[in-house]
Amino acid sequence: MLFKNVFMLVGLVASLTCWGTEYDSLIAKMANIRADSALHQAAIEAGKERSLLCGYCHGKDGNSVKDYIPNLAQQNPEYLLKQFQLFASGERKNYVMQQMAQMLTEQERINIALYFSSRQVVVSERHETSEQGKQRYQGFCFACHGEGGMGNKDLPRLAGQKKTFLVKTLTAFKHGDKARSSSPMVKIMGAVKEDEIEPLANYISSM
Ligand code: HEC
Ligand code: HEC
Repeated sequence: MLFKNVFMLVGLVASLTCWGTEYDSLIAKMANIRADSALHQAAIEAGKERSLLCGYCHGKDGNSVKDYIPNLAQQNPEYLLKQFQLFASGERKNYVMQQMAQMLTEQERINIALYFSSRQVVVSERHETSEQGKQRYQGFCFACHGEGGMGNKDLPRLAGQKKTFLVKTLTAFKHGDKARSSSPMVKIMGAVKEDEIEPLANYISSM
């Protein structure tokens, strides 16, 4: 079992590096903005203004208003940009989010990603965590999402996400998730048992 996981990890990490040039150029633009503190601040301000609509569901400060909607606060901006691109192209499916993503220009996507990533996530839930959830996370998921669940660039931050969102998302991945079928998580959840999902979600949402 351990060998199988390690094998799969090596293959998956390798496959994560080919995202395409459109995304690379957006990431380069964003890096230039972040390198200049005045430009960065202006982008955050513009992102705040442009994200008013998002607040109805994700919360004004990126702490979502419903437990099945993901927090955007403190999310890695590279991951947010990646998701905008996947929604806009229809590779990730969600009716509202596809409309939203298509509506945003490149500059607006960068501004919004920088705005939400600059907000603090509020951990609003504490669940009883088990050794099972912790061990599964630290023995497997940490390789990509980091020991503390912070992720890295387009590997998403998980720390602070709500349990309901995590259970819904992990269960969907486990069942092949038609809305996110190109996600590496579909394969990964193949190696995770159904009854491991709740312990994992308890552990992650309390991180
Ligand atoms: C009507 C509610 C609604 C509005 C308005 C909305 N979203 Fe969403 N958003 C959702 C839901 C629900 C999901 C989760 C979809 C799924 O499960 O795949 C989501 C997912 C996302 C994700 C993926 C996050 C992740 O962790 O995978 C991003 C990024 C995002 N939204 C950004 C935005 C932005 C930026 C706006 C404003 C321009 C916005 N959303 C407006 C409901 C909404
Ligand atoms: C090989 C790297 C890798 C490993 C190992 C991995 N993930 Fe992921 N995970 C990703 C990537 C990349 C994404 C984002 C792309 C996508 O799914 O759209 C992601 C997305 C997710 C999401 C959705 C986040 C969101 O905001 O929508 C959750 C939840 C998640 N992973 C949980 C886990 C758990 C739990 C484990 C361990 C059982 C795990 N991951 C192991 C790479 C990995």
